[in-house]
Amino acid sequence: MSHPKLEDAVKTLRQQYGARNPSSLRAFEDAKRSLPGGGTRSSIFIQPFPLVIASGHGTCLTDLDGHTYRDFVSDFTSGLYGKTNVILRDAIVGAIDNGMQLGGHTPAEGRLASLICDRFPAMDLVRFANSGTEANMIAICTAMRYTGCSKIVVFEGGYHGSLLSHFRMDELNAGPSSALTAPFNFVVCPYNDLEQTREKIVHSTGDVAAILVEPMLGAGGCIPGEPSFLRGLRELATEVGALLIFDEVQTARLDMGGRQKLLDIEPDLTTLGKFFGGGFAFGAFGGKREVMKMFDMTQPGAISHGGTFNNSPCTMVAGVTALEQLVTESALTTLNALGDNMRESLNQGFSAHSLPFIREY
Ligand SMILES: Cc1ncc(COP(=O)(O)O)c(C=O)c1O
Repeated sequence: MSHPKLEDAVKTLRQQYGARNPSSLRAFEDAKRSLPGGGTRSSIFIQPFPLVIASGHGTCLTDLDGHTYRDFVSDFTSGLYGKTNVILRDAIVGAIDNGMQLGGHTPAEGRLASLICDRFPAMDLVRFANSGTEANMIAICTAMRYTGCSKIVVFEGGYHGSLLSHFRMDELNAGPSSALTAPFNFVVCPYNDLEQTREKIVHSTGDVAAILVEPMLGAGGCIPGEPSFLRGLRELATEVGALLIFDEVQTARLDMGGRQKLLDIEPDLTTLGKFFGGGFAFGAFGGKREVMKMFDMTQPGAISHGGTFNNSPCTMVAGVTALEQLVTESALTTLNALGDNMRESLNQGFSAHSLPFIREY
């Protein structure tokens, strides 16, 4: 159905946007000569062209045309520390001066691992990678190897990385083929519907290596998993001999030990990313000793898992500094209270105008 008034308004706004941001437009057009669509992250592209950011300070971003904006997205949680952070900067400069890439084990990697394992009761052992996507891909392969099974249960609207997205057709502009999805044997179930998931897994599927779930759908609309649903998945995974993998790449910030700690659920494997790298590219997968010991290189037949930057000294030092000094219990309480307040005010504003925006938590 066409809405001429709305279309006119959008057209006018786009013209105003273009006139207000000529430098961004020029930089975008330049980038298009070597980057398809002028960018390298589909998730941050906006029509008619994105603002090109020159710098950031505190909670604000400044674009190439000199406009400053307050950033409420914080790079989908990886920007937890603000745009600039003196504590991190000093630690990172120290790591650079100490040797940027050492090609050997360093004390910081063991320290970062212990800080993470101390926070997550279900993580006896952890390994590092370079992104949340990579951590999830390896967690899936680990579960397949551990169980000898091939199917991976995931959920509609789930996002586990650039190669692991399970948006429904109507959620994607250009249909399902617009997602690059790795060719695993996925069984896609409805989120927050334990009965249908059980039906699919127990009665029709079999051969399930893992149930991979976000405790809150992040990119899929910030929809929290019902505690009973997530607890039910724990029971279901045990019942069918599959590993339960919690993707806490986004939800880890909800508590020192992620949403799993808040709900007292112990997954077999957990994946992390984003802010744990102290501002650098990061991923981690870890969990039960029984599973993770497959990576123990001191034992015969261990699985080989490499990665040039898995223990990059800058990332390791930044991660240790962040967890020791910045991602503290009180900082997380403040952060989450700010988020709760903002959601509450938005809900109030929308309900005052009888707009359908409210979601119960
Ligand atoms: C829940 C979740 N899992 C995995 C990922 C992928 O992480 P990365 O972008 O570091 O590959 C994301 C990224 O937004 C995410 O939100």
